Amino acid sequence: MDKLIIEGGVPLNGTISVSGSKNAALPILFASILLDSPFSFLNVPHLQDITTTIRLLRLLGVSCENEDHVVQTEPGHLVPEAPYDLVRTMRASVLCLGPLLTRLGRARVSLPGGCAIGARPVDQHLKGFEQMGARFDLEGGDIVGRCSSLRGAHIVFDMPTVGGTENLLMAAVLAQGTTILENAAREPEVVDLANFLCACGAKIQGQGTGMITIEGVSSLEGETYTIMPDRIEAGTFLAAAGITGGKLLVQNCPFAELETVINTLEQLGMDIRQTDEGVLAECGKAGLHGTDVKTQPYPGFPTDMQAQIMAMMCIAKSSSIVDERIFENRFMHVPELIRMGAQIKISGHTAMIRGVEHLIGAQVMASDLRASASLVLAGLAAHGTTHVRRIYHLDRGYERIEKKLNAVGARIIRAEQ
Ligand code: UD1
Repeated sequence: MDKLIIEGGVPLNGTISVSGSKNAALPILFASILLDSPFSFLNVPHLQDITTTIRLLRLLGVSCENEDHVVQTEPGHLVPEAPYDLVRTMRASVLCLGPLLTRLGRARVSLPGGCAIGARPVDQHLKGFEQMGARFDLEGGDIVGRCSSLRGAHIVFDMPTVGGTENLLMAAVLAQGTTILENAAREPEVVDLANFLCACGAKIQGQGTGMITIEGVSSLEGETYTIMPDRIEAGTFLAAAGITGGKLLVQNCPFAELETVINTLEQLGMDIRQTDEGVLAECGKAGLHGTDVKTQPYPGFPTDMQAQIMAMMCIAKSSSIVDERIFENRFMHVPELIRMGAQIKISGHTAMIRGVEHLIGAQVMASDLRASASLVLAGLAAHGTTHVRRIYHLDRGYERIEKKLNAVGARIIRAEQ
């Protein structure tokens, strides 16, 4: 297992580039199960979760080659079983359920694992599939779904779920008749999946709104699709400029999709503007000052940026409040930030942060993907040396993060733990 050793206190300066979106690439790669043609996916990030997805797709019968950010798939003889060994390492594996059910009328998928940020059930996925004609049993820790064929249905989600919307969307494109997804997730990654499916012949309307209508078609085919850039990686780089008092030009930055994040970073005291070359981000002359943030479904402030923004608040001149409304148990970075000198109090789903003059390097432990990013940001700003342990979470979601950050002035070494 690796750790990162970070010498803090260096303002980051220069140009940094955003990779393809992990959370868009995962469902889109699983949607290759639906295709009747060989396909090339472009701008696929080089990440552990993508490697896991490719291994899983191969076991499910889809041929996959992965080279230089291009994943080429070819349809094969599908096998409807996703084994525990792979699924336990990545919660998004459950996204093969919809494609397998709609193609084969059968799917066996282990109950998902992944980040330890709360219970994260899949009841909304299963409820939707049941409305489309599937039934489910729990057999030895696996969800086993069966149906003769899936038919269109009017599905109303209890809450806007990103994975649930994506799973049902993938199932509905090849189902008989029309499916309506109400209270659907509006996240840009859901839109990217819908756009990819439409490029392959699917009939989808309303992506990006709370009501998506899908008219089933008999087959899907296409040639290439370019995955959107990663808005969370981009947001993390903007935060890196702010927390270190530096200036970064962030290329391939999905500016429109980051509107709420950018507004919050500006409230914290950053200057951010779009230029022809990318998004230019720097800390304002007055330094960072506190603000309040509440995580919400898109277009609200993303829970996946909560930990990173909190790292910035730790060294702001005034107090801040973070209200986490998407996941319970998503404050696992807090005790680690406190080890670095932060002053944070948690009460239920709210964290109160009193800014301190500076953070101090320490030994800290990464507990989930975005918590890891938060600790890296804190380490970059801290006085002294920070050791971030258990960074395998970070490698699931950030492509070569230390190389990208070192190229703009950071001093990070990867070492064996
Ligand atoms: C996706 C993202 C994750 C992000 C999250 C919220 C991927 C691979 N992951 O996760 O990075 O943090 O969206 O933006 O895209 N819920 C239920 N029942 C369900 C499904 C969800 O109760 O069947 C709840 C969850 O526990 C959570 C909320 O709904 O409280 C939102 O979860 P969801 O949008 O489904 O998140 P994921 O798709 O797992």
